[in-house]
Amino acid sequence: MIAIGSDHGGYELKRGVTDYLKSKGIAYKDFGCYNIKSCDYPDIAVETCKSVVKGECEKALLFCGTGIGISIAANKVDGIRAACCSDTFSAKFTRLHNDANVLCLGGRVVGLGLAIELVETFLNTEFEGGRHIKRIEKITSIESMQNL
Ligand code: RB5
Repeated sequence: MIAIGSDHGGYELKRGVTDYLKSKGIAYKDFGCYNIKSCDYPDIAVETCKSVVKGECEKALLFCGTGIGISIAANKVDGIRAACCSDTFSAKFTRLHNDANVLCLGGRVVGLGLAIELVETFLNTEFEGGRHIKRIEKITSIESMQNL
């Protein structure tokens, strides 16, 4: 199950991507928003990312105007490694090397054709493991650091 969320700035691109997921028979759960009315991307990021951290969804796709705001918010959730991508190399390597579990896209940045390629790449690339594991563990350890 793929978790999906957007604010108003990413709503149209999210709709295009969910049409694509439907056509491929890929199951998803949409955590909003459900129309183009203005809303706050951190609220959507938290609800969508919670489903990944709880294990209800394996990965998430998030959309806002730039993809940046919602990725910043998503990365505040413990256990989330969110990558904002607008090129397929980054979408591939954030899976291979960072084991990213959330892909963030900008509805005002990328078109639907590229977005679908980014989503396909992200969903179909496995984490490479090996030397990258200890780096992921170091990222995770930042979550419990106090008094930075
Ligand atoms: C909303 O206008 C816009 O600020 C938001 O979608 C996003 O681009 C923020 O990073």
